[in-house]
Amino acid sequence: MHTTTIRSRTRLRLAGALAALLVAAGVATGPAAQADERHGKEPTLADLAQRHGRYFGSATDNPELVDEPYKALLGSEFDQITPGNGMKWYATEPQQGVFDFSKGDEIVDLARAHHQKVRGHTLVWHSQLPGWLTSREWTPAELRAVLKKHIQTEVRHYRGKVFAWDVVNEAFNEDGTYRETIFYKTLGPGYIADALRWARQADPRVKLYLNDYNIEVIGPKSDAYHRLAKELKAQGVPLDGIGLQAHLALQYGYPTTLEDNLRRFSRLGLDTSLTEVDIRMYLPATEEKLAQQADWYRDLTEACLAVRRCVGITLWDYTDKYSWIPAFFPGEGAALPWDEELRPKSAYFAIRDALR
Ligand code: G3I
Repeated sequence: MHTTTIRSRTRLRLAGALAALLVAAGVATGPAAQADERHGKEPTLADLAQRHGRYFGSATDNPELVDEPYKALLGSEFDQITPGNGMKWYATEPQQGVFDFSKGDEIVDLARAHHQKVRGHTLVWHSQLPGWLTSREWTPAELRAVLKKHIQTEVRHYRGKVFAWDVVNEAFNEDGTYRETIFYKTLGPGYIADALRWARQADPRVKLYLNDYNIEVIGPKSDAYHRLAKELKAQGVPLDGIGLQAHLALQYGYPTTLEDNLRRFSRLGLDTSLTEVDIRMYLPATEEKLAQQADWYRDLTEACLAVRRCVGITLWDYTDKYSWIPAFFPGEGAALPWDEELRPKSAYFAIRDALR
């Protein structure tokens, strides 16, 4: 990177850090912030993101919705919500042909009450499938019918209520080969194009995404998405965007090619979004690790803002209180911008800096 860029970045960061201190001290900065201040409130992450034509969201899950202080922040700070589990296959079609949208509906209703948009997550995934689907063999014709019915019933149910769907989730392995899921093994790679077409038939307007983790950097796995997306576009298959989950970990290094990667998907005519952001670390969380985490949150926010078609950012829940990390990665955690007591961490102020 050029020295001038580094210097101006450093200046920007210092200015940002100063703004964060002022914000923390309750002193607003900038004309819009002054306007907000006249109305007696600080702009939220959503307000700040909207000034760039982006959204700033959080995942949530039904059991958490009894926690009033949690719910209050969820309803005020964000303009987009993703159900963490409530729209997955095991929740929505627990018995074959018997649909239950109560969990997803609860989250959609909450989002509507706060004028928040909803990302649908997810229609086709190898994980959290109902037992009736995984416990027997299916012929290709049978599974196609089951898949089509599931996708179309769910997409129709949420038509006009979600703005985007993660149609297929986590379809590739790390080396860029197809993941050998029940869908791939039974139907071949064409299940992805079929899923997108079926979703489009059920809702002509919703944005259709493929979504995965470890595709923030340019490498074999994101190359596989780039190749597939190009093919799908060439064949006229309805694909609108690529979701980069962005489950990052301090020990693996920052994905420095993120911005270039977002840009190359834009060049295919696709939207991108950071769909499940968290940045975990080995515990205990030290000041140093939290500062590094804050830098990464700032950097990934700046990367999205730098690419016009990166439409928004979603945290995979906003507080360490409800993070999936400690249960899945023992000894790791502290991954989100709010701590377990719902207090904002340095990461929160770093995101604000980036959005200002
Ligand atoms: O519903 C049962 C409950 O009845 C039981 O008492 C409890 C005991 O463990 O488990 C509950 O199920 C849990 C479920 O979340 C609902 O809370 C599962 O054990 C747990 O494994 C499951 O974890 C979810 C995970 O996906 C499954 O892979 C996380 O909450 C969810 O945040 C996570 O989200 C995924 C995205 O969908 C895709 N990308 C990766 C991301 C993180 O894994």
